[in-house]
Amino acid sequence: MCGIIAYVGKQNSAPILLEGLKKLEYRGYDSAGISVCNRENIITVKSAGKVEELENKLGKRKISGTIGIAHTRWATHGKPNDINSHPHADCQENIHLVHNGIIENYQELKKFLQKKKHKFKSETDSEVLAHLIEEFGKNLGFKDAVLEALKMIRGTYGLAIISKKEQGKMLVARNGSPLVIGVGDGECVIASDVSALICHTDKVIYLEDGEVAEIDKDGYSITNIKNKKVNKEISKLTWNIEKSQKGGFPHFMLKEIFEQPEAIRNCLRGRIDKFLKDENFPVLGGLKPVEKKLRKINKIIIVACGTSYYSGLVGKYMFEEYAGISTEVEYASEFRYRKSVLCGRTAVIAISQSGETADTLAAIREAKSRGALTLGIVNVVGSSISRETDGGSYTLSGPEIGVASTKAFTSQITVLALWTMMFGRQRKMTFSATEKIAKELKKIPEMVEKIVKNNKDIKKIAKKYMTAENFLYMGRKYNYPIAMEGALKIKEISYIHAEGYPSGEMKHGPIALIDEDFPSIFICPKDSVYEKNISGIQEIKARGGKIIAVATEGDKNMKKIADDVIYIPKTLEMLTPMLAVVPLQMFAYYFGVLKGFNVDQPRNLAKSVTVE
Ligand code: AGP
Repeated sequence: MCGIIAYVGKQNSAPILLEGLKKLEYRGYDSAGISVCNRENIITVKSAGKVEELENKLGKRKISGTIGIAHTRWATHGKPNDINSHPHADCQENIHLVHNGIIENYQELKKFLQKKKHKFKSETDSEVLAHLIEEFGKNLGFKDAVLEALKMIRGTYGLAIISKKEQGKMLVARNGSPLVIGVGDGECVIASDVSALICHTDKVIYLEDGEVAEIDKDGYSITNIKNKKVNKEISKLTWNIEKSQKGGFPHFMLKEIFEQPEAIRNCLRGRIDKFLKDENFPVLGGLKPVEKKLRKINKIIIVACGTSYYSGLVGKYMFEEYAGISTEVEYASEFRYRKSVLCGRTAVIAISQSGETADTLAAIREAKSRGALTLGIVNVVGSSISRETDGGSYTLSGPEIGVASTKAFTSQITVLALWTMMFGRQRKMTFSATEKIAKELKKIPEMVEKIVKNNKDIKKIAKKYMTAENFLYMGRKYNYPIAMEGALKIKEISYIHAEGYPSGEMKHGPIALIDEDFPSIFICPKDSVYEKNISGIQEIKARGGKIIAVATEGDKNMKKIADDVIYIPKTLEMLTPMLAVVPLQMFAYYFGVLKGFNVDQPRNLAKSVTVE
C-alpha cells in the first residue's frame, strides 16, 4: 500500500511534501520520491530506502516551487530501487505522476505504447500511465488526455499528476485507492490518507471512485471520468493523527483483520478472472520461469515459521487432495538441520510475510545447495526470500504493521489455493473442478466481511472467558492448522497458555487437562469430519469442559451442544480455514485488549525475526 502526498498553494511545497511522507511512514514502504514544479521545469528526486535518504538527497538541492507531488512506495511490480520509485514520467519528462493501486492491464498497454516508440525506464505498472497520457496528449489538452488514459485502465488507482506544459495546476484521480483533498486557506493538500494532511487543515473532500479533481492556486473543480461536473461536500475531520494512521481503528491489528477482504481481493486481482474466461491456468507470472519444472515435481517440502508454518499446513492438505503431490511441512528452524532427502523433483516452498525470517532464509539456502527447486510465497516485494528463490508469488496483502500476523495469513492461504489450482491443472485436475474452486475463492472476501461484522458478539465471548488462564484449541484436517494458529494468536497477544491440537489427538492425553476452568475452542464446520468433531465436543462436555465452537451458519444443533457458538458461512472444505481463522483472530485481539496489553507490539516479539 503506497502513500501519496501532494500540494498546490502559496507555500514552498518541498518541505510540506517531506513532512507528509514522514506521516505516511507507518504504512511501510521501500522507497520514496518527489517532483516539484520549478518555474517552467519539473525537478524530480527519488531514492530507495527510507524518507531520510530522500531528504539527504534533497538537502543538497534547494528546490523551490509551490506545486509538488510525492510518494512512498510499497513495491508490487518491480524491485524497490531508485528507478522504480515514484514519481514516474513520460518520454519527454513532461508528465509526472504518483500512483497507488495496481494497473492490471499494464502489460498490454505497455506493448501498445512500445509499438508507438515509447521508451520505458522502470519495471512498474505506474509508469505506463505517464506514457499513455503523453500519447493522448499529442492531440488533446492535459485534462482530456488524462481522462482518455484513465478510461483505458483496468485496475485501481489513486493518482496525482502534474505537467511541465501546464504549470500551475494538478490533476488528482481516484478509482479503488483512497485520495483525500485537504482544503486550506488558498491551498490544497492531497493525500492517500488524512494522517498526512491533518496538520494543515480539518476540512476535507473525499474523492469517490471515478472522480477527477483539477486543482490550482484559485481552488478546485471536480468531475467524473466523463468530465461531468460533480458537487462535493466539505467534511470536517475529528480524528487525531494517531487514530487516522489506523484508519479510525484503535489498533493496527484490528484494522488489518478488517482489511482481510480487501487483501484477499488484491491477492486474487488479475490472477483468476482471465482463468475463468479462457485461460487454462491461474495467471501466476512469478511461476512462469519454473512452469516446466513444476510439472515434474513429485514432492513438496514447505518451510516456514510461526503463523506462516500454519498456512503451510493448510497448503499440505490442498496439494495432496487436489494435485496429488506428496507434501511435507517442516519448521524452517528444523529443516536446515535435517538431512532431508532432496532431489531435482523436489520443490521447497518458503512461506514468509516479511521475506526476511532468518531461519526460513537459511532453509531456502540449504535447499538450493542440495539441488531442490525453491519457491517463495512472500508479502514484502524485493525481500531476501523473494529474491533468492527460483520463483514464487507475492501475497500483495499490503504492509502488515501489527506483530501478530492476520491478513498476511489469509493471503498466504489464498496463494496456496491458487498454486493448488495451478499444480492440479498441470496434472489430472479437470477445468470444472478448478473453476469451482476459483468461483468459490472469489466469494471468500464478502464471507470474511460478514464474519468481521460480527465482532461485537466475539468481543462478548472474549469478555465471558476473561478469567481463563488456559485454552485448548481443536480442529481436524483442514482446520487442524487453524487450531494451531488460533492458539498462537492468543498466546502472542494475551500471554496466556493455549495449545492447538488435531482434535483426534485429544483422547491421547490433552483431555486430561479438561475441567470447568479449562475451556476449549473447537473448530467444527459442516465438513467431511463434522461427526468426528461432534463426538470430540461431547467428550469434552462430559468432563465438564466449556466449549466455544466455530460452526457453519445454520447448524442449529451446535447451539444445543456448545456453550458459545461463532458462525461462519458455508464454503468448500479446503477454503474453510480462511473463514474459521477470522473469529479466532478477533477472539485473541479482544482478549488481549481486555487484558490491557499492547496488542500491536506484544512483549518479547518482533515483526520480523531476522536472527536465528
Ligand atoms: C505470527 O503472528 C508471528 N508474528 C510469527 O509467528 C511470524 O508468523 C513468524 O515469525 C514468521 O514470520 P514471517 O512470516 O515474516 O516469516
